[in-house]
Amino acid sequence: MDIKEEIKRFKEDIDCEIALRLDSVIDNAKDLDPFFVSMMKYFKKTILAGGKRIRPIMVCLGYEAAGGKNYKKIVKTSISIELIHAFLLMHDDIIDRDDLRRGKKTIHAKYRDYNKRFLHNNNATHFGESVAIVLGDFIYSLGNQVLFESKFESDKIVKALSKLQSIVGMTCVGEMQDVYMEYKSKVTDREILDMYENKTAKYTFEGPLHLGATLAGADDIFCDKLSAYAIPLGIAFQIRDDVLGVFGDKKKTGKSTNSDILEGKKTFMVNCAYKNATHNQKRVLDYSLGNKNINAEEIKKFRDVIIDTGALKEVENYMQKLLRQSKKSLDEIILPKDVKQLFVGLIDYLNKREK
Ligand code: IPE
Ligand code: IPE
Ligand code: MG
Ligand code: MG
Repeated sequence: MDIKEEIKRFKEDIDCEIALRLDSVIDNAKDLDPFFVSMMKYFKKTILAGGKRIRPIMVCLGYEAAGGKNYKKIVKTSISIELIHAFLLMHDDIIDRDDLRRGKKTIHAKYRDYNKRFLHNNNATHFGESVAIVLGDFIYSLGNQVLFESKFESDKIVKALSKLQSIVGMTCVGEMQDVYMEYKSKVTDREILDMYENKTAKYTFEGPLHLGATLAGADDIFCDKLSAYAIPLGIAFQIRDDVLGVFGDKKKTGKSTNSDILEGKKTFMVNCAYKNATHNQKRVLDYSLGNKNINAEEIKKFRDVIIDTGALKEVENYMQKLLRQSKKSLDEIILPKDVKQLFVGLIDYLNKREK
């Protein structure tokens, strides 16, 4: 099985459904408000500009893992979680002060700059953030609507909708932990890894698998088995995100490679570096983290400390341990052969990802 080809096929089908749904929103709004329409058109451009579609793919795989057979129906429904992801990212990019995602200006940055050009209001930042908060809220409700209006039996929809609210709730807990840990002088590895489970693993892997499985009629015992695969994979996914956030290629990730440093994020990798750092290396870390005026040379020094303290190697090893754990959990689930191959292939694909 060529995992990249499989993912490409899923992505094409998912993107087609996203475009259809957003076109319908835009069409319905055309007599409502011209600014809203132009904003939705920009949103459509950004959501379709990239993205791996991991979450909707997980919905489809959870469904097929539990014996679901209607591919078209599950793909149509799976965009619910991708819209919810887009909403979370819109708010996350305000929180993290990120101006770039998928190679395009984030919503708050776009409308901050739009205000500067067309509205001449010196409160442009506030305007941009207000737009992104409200658009995020709208896309959240649209994500719920997609699932609510899906063609599954109503008892399954109700169960899935309830799960979806829990997933979002848990992600908010994780995001909140991320927000306050940035300001705490000391955080433990355990606290960081718990935060990763809450802010990323649950809404990226576990929740979507459960949603799909629920729509195929699976019970809680089956869902628990999927969790054993999803949680270590999801934590490893966030650690890879942290690594790419410092060492990645902006052209490939479509995101900034400085913002975690500028924001002073206490990532698992940064914590590992602190543990092993000499006095001088600690000074580089302290100087760099949260420094909004850091220059290219200083960023290079920061990266060198991450490498020289062995932190990069340490998190790499930890990631491999998590991925092995995720793979091993598959021995405990009875799955259709092609779904099992996809689950295994995804571990490898995500491990090697550069975006
Ligand atoms: C980014 O998610 C946010 C995290 C939880 C790390 P992805 O890496 O899945 O982003 P896209 O959807 O592919 O752009
Ligand atoms: C995003 O985490 C998690 C959520 C959106 C809930 P990050 O802030 O680490 O992800 P990126 O790097 O911005 O994509
Ligand atoms: Mg972020
Ligand atoms: Mg964040």
